[in-house]
Amino acid sequence: MTRRKLDDRAARHDGAYRRAKAEGFAARAVFKLDEIDRRFRLLTRGRRVLDLGCWPGSWMQLAAERVGDEGLVVGFDLRPCEIGLPSWVHPRVGDVTELDAAALVAEFGRFDVVISDMAPHTTGDRVSDQYRSESLCRAALQLATQVLRSGGHFAAKVFQGGGFPALLTETRAAFAEVKAVHAEATRSGSREQYIVGRGLRRQA
Ligand SMILES: C[S@@+](CC[C@H](N)C(=O)[O-])C[C@H]1O[C@@H](n2cnc3c(N)ncnc32)[C@H](O)[C@@H]1O
Repeated sequence: MTRRKLDDRAARHDGAYRRAKAEGFAARAVFKLDEIDRRFRLLTRGRRVLDLGCWPGSWMQLAAERVGDEGLVVGFDLRPCEIGLPSWVHPRVGDVTELDAAALVAEFGRFDVVISDMAPHTTGDRVSDQYRSESLCRAALQLATQVLRSGGHFAAKVFQGGGFPALLTETRAAFAEVKAVHAEATRSGSREQYIVGRGLRRQA
C-alpha cells in the first residue's frame, strides 16, 4: 500500500470516526451537526427537515433521532444511502442543483429546517474547490428560500473562499439572524464553515 493510501486510511480511522461508528452513526460528520444543533436548536421534536448532500446518512440519523416520529426527514444526494433508517426518513437520489422546489413542497409540504453538508469532489486546486463549494452553498440557500416556511431555519457547509462575504450577505437578506460557524469537530486546517440562518423572512 502506498504512503498516501496509508495516510488516508489513518485519517479516516481517527478518534472521531471510531466514536461515530461505535455510536452507530454512518460518518464522523454527525458531530458537526450535533455541535451546530446544540448551539442553534434547529432539530426540535416534530420538525420537518430537508438534508442536502445526505450520503452516507449520519445527519439524517441524528435529525431523525431529534425530530422523532412526529417529524420528517427528507434527504437528497447524488449517491444512494444504504443504511437502515426509521420510517419517517426519506432518502432520495438526486442532484440538488436540479431539484424542483414546487414539486418538493407539493409532495412533502413546507419544511421547518434545511441543512446542507454538500461538498464537491475536491480537485486539490483550492480556489476552484472553494468556488464549487460556494456554488453548492448558494444552491442550498436558493432552495431553502423556496421550500422553508416563513420563520424556518438554514445551516449549510461552505469551504470559505473569495465568495464567502457575498454568500453571507445573501443569507442575511433572507434570514433575520445569521452566523458563520467553524465547528470544533472539523478537521484541523480546514477552511470549512457553516452558515447558519435563523428565521426566514417572508418571501415576496
Ligand atoms: C460530506 S458528504 C455529506 C455527509 C453527510 N452529511 C453525513 O453526515 O453522512 C457530502 C455529500 O455531498 C454530496 N453532493 C455534492 N454535490 C451534490 C449535489 N449537487 N447534489 C446532491 N448531493 C451532492 C456528495 O455526493 C456527498 O455525499
